[in-house]
Amino acid sequence: MEVIIKDSYEEISALAARMIAQVVRGKPNAVVGLATGSTPLGTYQELIRLHKEEGLDLSGVTTFNLDEYVGLPGDHDQSYRWFMNKNLFNHINIDPANTHVPNGMADDIERSCEEYEEAITAAGGIDIQLLGIGENGHSAFNEPGSSLGSRTRVKTLDEETITDNARFFENMEDIPRYAITMGIGTIMDSRAVILLANKESKAEAISITVEGPITAMVPATIVQMHPKATIIVDRPAGSKLTREYPDRPARIVNPT
Ligand code: PGA
Repeated sequence: MEVIIKDSYEEISALAARMIAQVVRGKPNAVVGLATGSTPLGTYQELIRLHKEEGLDLSGVTTFNLDEYVGLPGDHDQSYRWFMNKNLFNHINIDPANTHVPNGMADDIERSCEEYEEAITAAGGIDIQLLGIGENGHSAFNEPGSSLGSRTRVKTLDEETITDNARFFENMEDIPRYAITMGIGTIMDSRAVILLANKESKAEAISITVEGPITAMVPATIVQMHPKATIIVDRPAGSKLTREYPDRPARIVNPT
């Protein structure tokens, strides 16, 4: 595991984008795993800049997102499909047909979860997966207690998550209660993972993830088992780490 602490959100975003760009430049048909939430927004802005100003070609890239709400169509402004289109896909030269987000509207959700796994395998597996982390140590919608061997499946959202989301919906009954998420096992199959975190509110989760024991109660701790994991945090998110971590450039990620 490589831990990199940077001074600012801009710096962690730039580094994550540079690592993804490096994979894509080395393998133009790379398969990239993406995340939603506030954390990766800076990374997406930097990828857009690299595309527009430095000629980063994403036309051959395939993407798979970590998760999606059950019951929200892709044109709902709270769906993760909408988020990805708005914050990344609409601004780069990726083929929309090669962007994958779990289908929260599938008639047979269980089958569609299996198909998502099959699509990742058919694409050749994920070369590099971007991850955020929840304050409770969740990874995607793998909440505390999730099996560390889990695959893509439906998860019931925590009451806390449902309450947090209430502000985005006009009617209580519209708030999603379930989500489809890649499993921890799915995430671990990626050839490289980047876990990004900023803000002091993530400091405890980062300290356990990097320096604590591996436990399903903090699913993100499984990255300790990944042979190519890079944890990139700003100073507030790294403030509870006890060891020294040098601020050195990230190693070259070579997709195989
Ligand atoms: P955030 O969410 O990026 O909005 O903090 C991350 C997560 O909960 O996994």
